[in-house]
Amino acid sequence: MTAATERAHEPVMVAACLRYLRPRPGAWIIDGTFGAGGHTRALLDAGADVLGIDQDPQALSYTGTLDDRTSAPIASRATPPADGGAPPVLRGSFRFAAGNFRDMERLATGAGLSSVAGVLLDLGVSSMQLDEGERGFAFRHDGPLDMRMDPSGPSAADVVNEAPMEELAALLWRYGEERHSRRIARRIVEAREQAPIRTTARLAEVVASAYPGGPRRTHPARRTFQALRIHVNDELGALQEGLEAAARLLEPGGRLVVISYHSLEDRIVKRFLADSPRMLPLTKKPLEADEAEVRANPRARAAKLRAGERSPA
Ligand SMILES: C[S@@+](CC[C@H](N)C(=O)[O-])C[C@H]1O[C@@H](n2cnc3c(N)ncnc32)[C@H](O)[C@@H]1O
Repeated sequence: MTAATERAHEPVMVAACLRYLRPRPGAWIIDGTFGAGGHTRALLDAGADVLGIDQDPQALSYTGTLDDRTSAPIASRATPPADGGAPPVLRGSFRFAAGNFRDMERLATGAGLSSVAGVLLDLGVSSMQLDEGERGFAFRHDGPLDMRMDPSGPSAADVVNEAPMEELAALLWRYGEERHSRRIARRIVEAREQAPIRTTARLAEVVASAYPGGPRRTHPARRTFQALRIHVNDELGALQEGLEAAARLLEPGGRLVVISYHSLEDRIVKRFLADSPRMLPLTKKPLEADEAEVRANPRARAAKLRAGERSPA
């Protein structure tokens, strides 16, 4: 994949992110899910300084699209040019750290930051990751059954071909809320005894064959793919640790914004904001994208945004 050839990821609910994060010159904000840098760009344009984090090594290629921004301190770039011409537009400076947002404190320290004014997490996978068959995230694109955002550790194929049936059923139930988890797990085990399941198309076919008939609105493999992706990337564990790390890094009055795309994530965020002694919730109910945004960007349909503020020290 290259930044130039892939369909760009459209950032979701940008106006609400800016309203809650209050980007301004001199304020450092961590974008813990840099992706294609859509939210980062909006924060920089509003004058904030941004540390972008992503566990997908391919995200690095998108940092190049942030045009002329460098990691030079904002003050030095605001100095009027010697020839007396107009001073440069005051825009924030940018740094990037490859890694998991669960390690946000270590990554921030490495970038020279001990506290920040804001943290943004826009969870899940990007359009580029979904569209690239090679990454194995989507049942709609055939490719190797991988699903790792960070290409280390076991892949989805390892789990599907090696996990005991009970474990498979449990993870489909827990992370996919899949009603037919046991049937599907049994069918997967039968199929892999014939030949290992190596591709997304093969897994989608096996799951579909286990599904009871009748009309349905979504593909029968949707929940199985969601469950495997969450499991392979330990998405819920990373979210819990990322939220705790964010709360420790935020300065008093600093803001946290999280956009989630399914109920398991949203439940964790809601509970964290309600229970953390460090955080005050700013959203009673999650905000959703308006109709116009959903029409223009179908990904926004499932988005739920919650925000919180770091309580005074
Ligand atoms: C929905 S996309 C973010 C898109 C981004 N806001 C934009 O406007 O382009 C999610 C990104 O977060 C990354 N990601 C997901 N979980 C992560 C984690 N625990 N640590 C670091 N990056 C993560 C994914 O690799 C993906 O690039």
